[in-house]
Amino acid sequence: MASYRIALIPGDGVGGEITEEAVRVLEAAADIHSFDVSTETFDWSCDRYLEVGAMMPEDALETLSGFDSIFLGCIGDANKVDDHISLQMLLAIRKGFDQYVNLRPIKLYPGVYSPISTANPETVDILVIRENTEGEYSSNGGIFKRGTPDAVALQTGVFTWKGCERAIRYGFEMARQRNKLGGSPAGRVTNCTKSNALNYSMVFWDEVFDHVAADYSDVETDMALVDALTMWFVKNPDWFDVVVASNLFGDIITDLGAMLQGGMGFAAGGNVNPEKDFPSMFEPIHGSAPKYTGKRVVNPIATIEAVRMMLEHLGEIEAGTQIQTAIATTLGAGEVRTKDMGGSHSTDEMGAAVVTKMREIA
Ligand code: IPM
Ligand code: MG
Repeated sequence: MASYRIALIPGDGVGGEITEEAVRVLEAAADIHSFDVSTETFDWSCDRYLEVGAMMPEDALETLSGFDSIFLGCIGDANKVDDHISLQMLLAIRKGFDQYVNLRPIKLYPGVYSPISTANPETVDILVIRENTEGEYSSNGGIFKRGTPDAVALQTGVFTWKGCERAIRYGFEMARQRNKLGGSPAGRVTNCTKSNALNYSMVFWDEVFDHVAADYSDVETDMALVDALTMWFVKNPDWFDVVVASNLFGDIITDLGAMLQGGMGFAAGGNVNPEKDFPSMFEPIHGSAPKYTGKRVVNPIATIEAVRMMLEHLGEIEAGTQIQTAIATTLGAGEVRTKDMGGSHSTDEMGAAVVTKMREIA
C-alpha cells in the first residue's frame, strides 16, 4: 500500500481551520483509495516569530525534506509581523526546495458566480505556469543611505537561461498533456511578457520562449504583454490555455485569475519540483484573513483543490479526479454556500459536503 508523509504548516489567521479541512479530505481520500497518509503539524507562524524571533527553525528545510509533500495553510499577519519578514518563510521553501514551477489552475466551476461577466465554466479553464524561484523575486539588492535625501533602493531581477527554460518547457509539456484544443494543435501556450519595456530581462525571456517553442511544433504559441494580458483575461478568457509567466507577472495575473474563477476562495497553487528531488508544497493562494480567524467562515474549496493537486503530484490520479468531481457536484448543486458565495455555511460544512460527495461517488 502506498503511504505518504505530509508536513502541515497551518501558518497564521485562518490557516488552522482550513488545514483541518485539508486533513479531512486527505484522510477520506486515503480511506477510499486505499493508501496510507500520516501528517505532522508544524507551528511555524507569526506567533512563533513573536515568541522566539523566527518564523521557522534554522533546520526547517532539513526537517521538511523527510516528507513526501507539504501542505501550507496561509502565512502572514501584518499586525504581528511585517509581511516582508513573515513571507520570507514561504519564499525560502519555494527556493530552497527548487520548486521552480508554480502551478496555478484557473477553473470556474458550475454553480460559482464570478464577478467577471465573460466568465463561465465553458470559458474559464486556464493553467498559469509561474516561474517560482528567480526573476523579480531573486531578493537581490539593498537600501542605501536610508532615511537621507540620497536614499536609494535597488531590487535586481535575475533571469537565468536555465531558470526560464525549465519553467517555460514545463508549460509546453502541460499544453500537450491538457490537449485543450483537441489534437492539432494540441494546445496553446501564451507567453506573458513585457519585452517592449524590460529590454534585458523580458527580451531574454522571449528568446528562451522561442527556443523552447521550436521543440513543440504541435503546440500553438501566442504572446501577450502582461498589461494587455490582464485586459484579455477579462475580455476573452476562453482564448487562454496555458500561460507561462515570470515570478512577479505570474503572481499578479493569478489574482485576476482568481476573480475569473469566483474569488480567492477557489484558487489553489502547487509549488512543484517536477523532478521530485525535494518535496513540493501545495497551498490555497489566498491570504490568512486574520479578522476571520476561528470564525470558520472562509471557503475551503481552494484548500481542497490544493489537496487534489498534491495527491495528483504524488501519483494518486484517481483520488485527484474524484475530489475534483466531488467539488464540481457540490458546487453545482448550490446547496452549500460559504460567506464569499453569498451563503452562510461554515468552512466545516463545505468541507464535509465535499467529503460526503467523495464517498457517494466511490
Ligand atoms: C502568492 C503570494 C506570495 C507571492 C506573497 C504572499 C509573498 O502573493 O503566493 O501569490 O507573491 O508569491
Ligand atoms: Mg499572489
